[in-house]
This record gives sequence, C-alpha cells and structure tokens, in this order.
Amino acid sequence: NVLILDFGSQFTQLIARRVRELNIFCEIYPFNNPPKDISQYKAVILSGSPFSVRSEEAPHPDLSQIRGKLPTLAVCYGAQYIAHFSGGEVAPSDTREYGRAKLSFIEENEVFFEEIHTGSQVWMSHSDSIKKLPENGVKLASTEDVQFAAYKIEGESTYAIQFHPEVYHTTDGKQLLENFLVKIAGVAQSWTPDNFVDMTVAELKEKVGNDKVVLGLSGGVDSTVAAVLLNKAIGDNLYCIFVNNGLLRKNEFESVLKQYEGMGLNVKGVDASNRFLKELEGQSDPELKRKAIGKVFIEVFDDEAHEINDVKWLGQGTIYPDVIESISVNGPSATIKSHHNVGGLPDFMKLKIVEPLRMLFKDEVRRVGASMSINPELLGRHPFPGPGLAIRILGDITAEKVRILQEVDAIFINGLRNAGLYDKVWQAGAILLPVNSVGVMGDERTYEKCVALRAVESTDGMTADWVNLPYEFLQKVSNDIINKVKGVNRVVYDISSKPPATIEWE
Ligand code: XMP
Repeated sequence: NVLILDFGSQFTQLIARRVRELNIFCEIYPFNNPPKDISQYKAVILSGSPFSVRSEEAPHPDLSQIRGKLPTLAVCYGAQYIAHFSGGEVAPSDTREYGRAKLSFIEENEVFFEEIHTGSQVWMSHSDSIKKLPENGVKLASTEDVQFAAYKIEGESTYAIQFHPEVYHTTDGKQLLENFLVKIAGVAQSWTPDNFVDMTVAELKEKVGNDKVVLGLSGGVDSTVAAVLLNKAIGDNLYCIFVNNGLLRKNEFESVLKQYEGMGLNVKGVDASNRFLKELEGQSDPELKRKAIGKVFIEVFDDEAHEINDVKWLGQGTIYPDVIESISVNGPSATIKSHHNVGGLPDFMKLKIVEPLRMLFKDEVRRVGASMSINPELLGRHPFPGPGLAIRILGDITAEKVRILQEVDAIFINGLRNAGLYDKVWQAGAILLPVNSVGVMGDERTYEKCVALRAVESTDGMTADWVNLPYEFLQKVSNDIINKVKGVNRVVYDISSKPPATIEWE
C-alpha cells in the first residue's frame, strides 16, 4: 500500500494510475489532511504543485513521520521542497523548463535508474530550479538545462526527481516508478482485479452482514459492477431498482432489465415514464429540466425503497475521482454539495452508505467487471447522462419528440456498432434541435425537424475532441435517418471540441 501526498498538482491522479498499472495499490491524500497512521504504508510519493516553494502560499507538509522512516519519492515540487528546506537552494529557472527533455547524465549504478539509459526522454514542467542540493544530497541525473534532474539523500531511502514520471511523455516513467516501489521499497505487485474482487466481497460480507441493501441501477458500468460485487457478497439481500424515466435510449429499459435478470441480480424495473414527462411539461430551461428529473427520481426511488422491509444500507457506484474531488486540497466542489440543498432529505438518503468502488478509477472498474465475467458489451458502453435524452431535446419535451430522438439515436448508435466504430468513440449521441427547416421529399415540400449528431474522443469527459468519422459512414447514417424517421428532414454533424463547446448541448 502506497501513500501519495497531494500538493495540488494537476498530475496527481496520473501518479496514482501509473502506480496501479504496476498492480500496486495506492491512495491519494491531501498534504494538509494526511491519514492518521502513516506507518502502515510501504512507501510515500510526494506530488507536484502549482506553487513555488518560495511563495507564501506554498504547501508545508509535515514530513516528520515520513522522511528517513519510509521510502520516499519526491516529484517536482516535492523535490524542490526537500531541497529548499533541508539546506539546499531553489531559485527561479534561467531558461524555460517546460516540455520534453533528455537525460544527458545518469548515475547508472543506481537501482533507481536500472534499465534506464542516457538519452531517455523526460517531461519537465517547472519554473523554479534546484541550484544547490540539500544536506547529504547526491546527484543522480541531469538534463542539458537541469543540473539536478534527480538526486537521493545519502543514508535515507529518499529519492527526488524534477521531472514527471507519471506522464506518458516520460518514456521510462513507469520503469522508474517500478524501480523505486518494487526494487527499493519492496512493495508487492499483488493488486489485481481478481484480488480486489475477493477482498471486497469479504469486506462487504463483514460490513453488511445479514442487512438489506438497496441500490439504484442506471444501466451504466459503475452501478452495474457495484451491484454484481454486492450480489456476490450478500445475494438477494441486495435489492436493485432500475427506473425508467422515459428518457432512455430506444428499448433500453427492456433490454437492460433483461440483462440484469440474466446476471442473477434481484432487480425491480419501475416504469415511471409518465411521472417524469408530466413533471417536465412546458419546461425548457436545461437546469430546471435537470432539477425536475432529479426530484422525480428521488420520489420514485424513495417510494420503492419503502417497499423493502427493514433496509439498512444504500449501495452506490461512487468511483475514486469523485472521492478525490471531495477530499482534495481545494476542498469539495460546489456541485458535490448541491444535493444537500434538496430540502428535507428523503428517507433513503438517511441510510448507511456502502460504496464498493470508491477506491477505483473508471478503467479499473471495467477490469474488475471483466474479471467477474460481466458482458463486455455492457462494460464498454458509452457514458450516458443521468437526465438522458431530456438534455438532448433542446427546448421543451414531449412524448413525440422523445420518440423521434430515440429513433434517430438508435440508427446512429447501431450504425457505429455495425461499422466497427463504436469502441473508437468515447461518447456519441443525437440532439434534436428546436429548429424546423424546409426540405423536399418526392414532389412535396416538407418543413420538419433538424437533428445534430455528436461523437467525441475523450478520456474523462473534461476535455473532448470531435471524432473524424468517415464521410461514407455519415452519408449512410444521414440517409437512413431522413428516410426512416418521420418528422426529420435534415442531419448535421457537430464539429466542435470541448473546450470551448461542451459535449452535451444543454
Ligand atoms: P459536458 O456537456 O459538460 O458533459 O461536456 C461532460 C460529460 O458529463 C455528462 N453529463 C451529465 N451526466 N448528469 C449526468 O449524469 C448531467 O446532468 C450531465 N450533463 C452532462 C455528459 O454526457 C458527458 O459525458
């Protein structure tokens, strides 16, 4: 188990991912709120930071339980911090040190640099430089511009590097992390999806015992994997609820419900489409639509949870990025707090919470799902927003508009699948525009709806690029849509990236 102390760098999550790729478990804690018992960790990594060690706001971690006691790897800010406050010197860099660089000198006899050779590419991102090493510091590597690209402290298992091993541009970054964690700190590489499943199921059995748990399934990857884990631990004491809000994809409710039943989950499908549509009537403001859907969902879920006798726990598919955000250096974001403003919590929100995936990144959730033999098609599904088609129908929502958009979306998504493009796209969907345009079909003039198609590449939805889909594919999909979906006579393709656009139109 490895501890990563976060000083607010944008790359901290990446450090955790690289470490986990080595099958080593690690946790991120903000430097100002570290875990109580640090001695349980086998090694510590100090992250980078947007601050300069010379600035007044610079993070000042308490390293008294770490340095000299546990193997420590200090990255970027961490390296400068140790230098600056232990007898060395840090000053503004003479030249710009941002981007690719090559290691021009390496102390090759060091285990730290085993299997890494001069010429290896590293990624720099800093405006301060270490001018003088701290007490007992020994230089281990340099680049053309950075004399102390890596150093160690004699007599301690403390290593420091100015570059970022966690970004892919540092070609041997993973090797370096492995050298430090495995060869120097002796951490075992035993964190695998299979182990995670065994451990988690045992923990859940212990934690939940014979209590009942209620969990809302969405058809998405996270809630499904969470449900399968809980089901392995407590069987039919897990009560799953899958709500049809009437804004899912075409036939999604029926087909996903069937899949869930096939997986042996104790699941109740609740078709509340009309209740949602009624609440949305005449509503065209995107945020009000979201609120209306959230409100009805809570009511429906609460009603259903009351049907279960004596339920004690609420299961949730929360994953690690949400957890990190809520405990980050900058504190929880406004959106995470917003559900507290609902005004009088419904009863199910007073239940104890169980979140079996709260330590996993999205790709790990998929790997865990695969190790439990969950259908790969389900695990590879594109993300789909909670409010569903409501935020892809611009303006107000009617049953007829939902029907039109479901048809269009199905043609587009099935088209992507049939053309072998589905897995190359991170997210795709269709948007029904509040615009009628003139067309001509046969001898008749039409005045019908226009739809936009959107397909993006992304890793986490924070930034995204539109996908360069083949023209022949777009041509075929457009033809199919206009010929088969009554009420649509025009198709456009969205070529905006995020930022400055967003993925959804609302
Ligand atoms: P944007 O449009 O902000 O979307 O670029 C980023 C990702 O978030 C999804 N999204 C939502 N998901 N409730 C959700 O559960 C929402 O209200 C919501 N709005 C956007 C969007 O589909 C994309 O994956």
